[in-house]
Amino acid sequence: MRTGEQQSQTSTTLGWYDLSLQNHLSKVVADPPIDLTTVNFEFKRPEAVRERLGRTFSYFYTAEGEVSLNVRQVETLISDVDEYTAQFLTSWDAQEGQHSVLFGRVLETLELPLPKINRNKNMSAFRIGGVLSKNIPEMRDIFMLNYLSRGAMHERYTAGGYTIIGNIMTEMHEEEFVRTAIKPVFKQESRHLGYYRPAAKKYAANLSPWQVQAAEEFTAEYFRPVAASSKQRLVEIGRMQRDFADYGVDEVADHVQDIADDIFSEGSPEGTPRILRATKALLRLVKNEDAPRSPKYVRDVLEYCVELSELEDAV
Ligand SMILES: [Fe+2]
Ligand SMILES: [Fe+2]
Repeated sequence: MRTGEQQSQTSTTLGWYDLSLQNHLSKVVADPPIDLTTVNFEFKRPEAVRERLGRTFSYFYTAEGEVSLNVRQVETLISDVDEYTAQFLTSWDAQEGQHSVLFGRVLETLELPLPKINRNKNMSAFRIGGVLSKNIPEMRDIFMLNYLSRGAMHERYTAGGYTIIGNIMTEMHEEEFVRTAIKPVFKQESRHLGYYRPAAKKYAANLSPWQVQAAEEFTAEYFRPVAASSKQRLVEIGRMQRDFADYGVDEVADHVQDIADDIFSEGSPEGTPRILRATKALLRLVKNEDAPRSPKYVRDVLEYCVELSELEDAV
């Protein structure tokens, strides 16, 4: 990591980190991982919970558990992350990791198997990006904005998921679990969102319009729901979307899209440098999965997941 002084010589975005952002960061940093002795894992009707929410808990167990992989990807992609980002990543990693442990305990209580957590994904695309970001500061800024905006979008999506789980479990009279587990987890997700969203907005405000536009294009190209790292995961997310159809899950998708639209509102497609066009072509080459995208990519991608899951379940 660079010192502040060294960074001021190279970064084009010095000053993006202001006092209010520091305030959001300190709230995240001050918050320890959830103490599992405070969680009540005793369900009134475990069979009913297993039936209704078993696969949802499996998804959140893996999604939360893969944040540490995500942290490594960010550190590989963005050379020399600044000290604030490094602080955030450390606290974020610990809190999300503990969410996974919590849902692991839930799965054990419900006598469900623990799915495999993927912590060793191929990093070659991120290494290529890392070389670019090390040598081209403008690219580093684009990747940084892409990381922050995806962070905000993913936190909104998970916070929405936990709200829905809380509502379903309250209906099922599992209030103790909602109070001691779902609400504390939701609170941490809200703090993460409270940091990521203004961070992305402020970062974008320091960039050229073409960089903001480029970050939006990357986000549209690569947007996936949290931890959707394989076709099987897309199917699982599609099933979850269907499970939650009556609980406002489409509105959550709209909110996620709104966040992206807000962050990228200052972008402009004019004058995109050749290096960026070449990079995009390169990244498309290393990308191995083909999902649809459009200006409203969040909804499209989630609908794609639903279609995949319906196809799978029809077999
Ligand atoms: Fe989490
Ligand atoms: Fe989070």
